[in-house]
Amino acid sequence: MKGESGGDGFGAAVLAGLAARPRRIPCRHLYDAEGSALFERITELDEYYLSRCEAGLLARHGGEVAALVGTGARVVEFGAGSMRKTRLLLDALTAPAAYVPVDVCRDALVLAARRLAADHPGLAVTPLVADFTHPLTLPPAPGDDPALAFFPGSTIGNLSPSQARDFLHRVARLTGRRGWLLVGVDLVKEPAVIEAAYDDRHGVTAMFLRNLLARANRELGADFDLDGFDHTARWNGREGRVEIHLVANRSQTAMVAGEPFRFRRGDAIHVEDCDKYSVPQFQWLARQGGFAPAAHWIDPQGLFSLHMLAVDDRRR
Ligand code: TRP
Repeated sequence: MKGESGGDGFGAAVLAGLAARPRRIPCRHLYDAEGSALFERITELDEYYLSRCEAGLLARHGGEVAALVGTGARVVEFGAGSMRKTRLLLDALTAPAAYVPVDVCRDALVLAARRLAADHPGLAVTPLVADFTHPLTLPPAPGDDPALAFFPGSTIGNLSPSQARDFLHRVARLTGRRGWLLVGVDLVKEPAVIEAAYDDRHGVTAMFLRNLLARANRELGADFDLDGFDHTARWNGREGRVEIHLVANRSQTAMVAGEPFRFRRGDAIHVEDCDKYSVPQFQWLARQGGFAPAAHWIDPQGLFSLHMLAVDDRRR
């Protein structure tokens, strides 16, 4: 529906991003209701090992997480999505007191939170519609329960290293002195394995990316021809990241909010980077962000890591 996009600045981001060089539309705009549903399908793809590995790690090591955190934790999740992984975590914890899911997509957030609350009587569920790349305030918490921030899905890799460091500092402040962060981090590995995860053979990821243009058509009265753009995912070994673009496959002009935007064949719109880390690289970043590594786990195939970090008191 037109006008609905106003709240999260989608229109302004598209207009500014297409006028900029290089062209760029920030990835959080991928997650409207359609995009969030497409992303759920990505997490079920064979090629997308990240979700599978992380769910396995949570199921296997949830007890160790629970032992570190203790009883009555207040869980704050960034980019909560469908909350499938949250369930694994909540089941492992001892009597969690509260759950605050944070997401930019209101529709997906409210629906998933309602379902989760129904399955967890006694858990105080307070969803928060917010962009976690900006400072945010949590609802007030009674008592002195330990706070456990949860940031699964290697979403931290979608922030640049300096954004990630700033984000970690904010999380450390939000969770306080006895705070913890449980974060899923995709590992550096064979480029072909990584590229396949971001360019699946069923074309679901391509649809997810093109939904950005479809969303502009729906919400901004744009007239993008979705077939005029291909999706590419390329491993950049020097930077240790996958770079994701929409690339014009012919020259064309698209109208967005009454303004023409010209593309030549090969012109790219940068949408997302997915940074990958080795364990020592990530632990270094964590320390930069005000956390001390407490434990980490890796799946049997060595593809994905889950890190338990403690707010580092001495450095605050
Ligand atoms: N956090 C996810 C990741 O980095 C996001 C993601 C998965 C994604 N597949 C994508 C983003 C494809 C853009 C395009 O793996």
